[in-house]
Amino acid sequence: MTTYLITGVAGFIGSSLARAVLAQGDRVRGVDNLSTGRRENIAEIAHQIDFREIDLLDLEKLQEACQGVDYVMHQAAIPSVPKSIMDPGGNNRANVDGTVNLLIAARDAKVKRVTFASSSSVYGNTPTLPKHEEMTPDPISPYAVAKLAGEYYMNSFYRCYGLETVALRYFNIFGPRQDPSSPYTGVLAKFITQMLVGEEPTIFGDGQQSRDFTFVENVVQANLLGCHAPAEKVAGRAFNVATGQRITLTDTFEVLKKITGYTGGIKHGPDRRGDVRHSLAELSRSERDLGYTPRVDFETGLRRTVEWYESEMAAAKA
Ligand code: UD1
Repeated sequence: MTTYLITGVAGFIGSSLARAVLAQGDRVRGVDNLSTGRRENIAEIAHQIDFREIDLLDLEKLQEACQGVDYVMHQAAIPSVPKSIMDPGGNNRANVDGTVNLLIAARDAKVKRVTFASSSSVYGNTPTLPKHEEMTPDPISPYAVAKLAGEYYMNSFYRCYGLETVALRYFNIFGPRQDPSSPYTGVLAKFITQMLVGEEPTIFGDGQQSRDFTFVENVVQANLLGCHAPAEKVAGRAFNVATGQRITLTDTFEVLKKITGYTGGIKHGPDRRGDVRHSLAELSRSERDLGYTPRVDFETGLRRTVEWYESEMAAAKA
């Protein structure tokens, strides 16, 4: 049986990966320091996984956790642009130091491969759209710098130690279990939960900024491909993980009105510092070398996410 170590297993992406690995009949070990992850996310699979409450800064415990592991899917991070601007030191410790520790532990345990949750934010405000992996990165926020540093460390550990690594540049991931309560959470988790209770969402800026929003199931697929695609095609490299379509925030609000039945308005706030204006992925490298094509489109993903939040809210009331 194959063992996967998922860092950040109690987060919304990590917990989705854990379910997918279990569904294919493999073993999951999960680590999380529960700083942004939540126990509820893994409650229903708790008896099926080997969960360890570990901070990535604790190298010794991480080294133990890597023993006997075949593949690592490294999702643990403080995943927020605005939070990184408020606390660049904390961002660096969690997202860079934590990643280096993970790589050391994976290398020492002779893990077969590591996939890494990188971010579209490494591209910054480049005028070229769609954004492709050959472009020179231009990170704006400390968060984006940390993700890019993580990618370079992935590449370095492949070249210096032969540890196979694959960096996946996630484009605005959304889906069930994304925590809506944090002020730093993704915009869709916030908007959906606000609209379902009849609260006015706020658009930062003019609403004409656009994103290539990506349903979490596509990310799960990309990580599994990242573990198993031929090393000569993927090791040491970075790949976009996205839907390949972009939508403005204003249009997103209109789509959500239809899906949620919300009839209220929207507020506008000032532009958010460190924000990227437009984001759209080119997927040809991912298609060719990783074998990735998005399986769930934006609107289907959105409907499934809204249904999930609705059922959570109904269950909380009952
Ligand atoms: C960025 C990265 C993404 C990364 C994520 C981690 C880019 C293009 N994307 O997402 O890859 O995983 O950080 O957090 O850099 N907004 C509102 N109202 C709100 C909340 C947000 O208008 O209540 C706006 C933001 O100003 C932004 C857009 O919605 O323009 C998306 O914001 P958010 O969901 O926080 O993600 P990004 O910062 O784009």
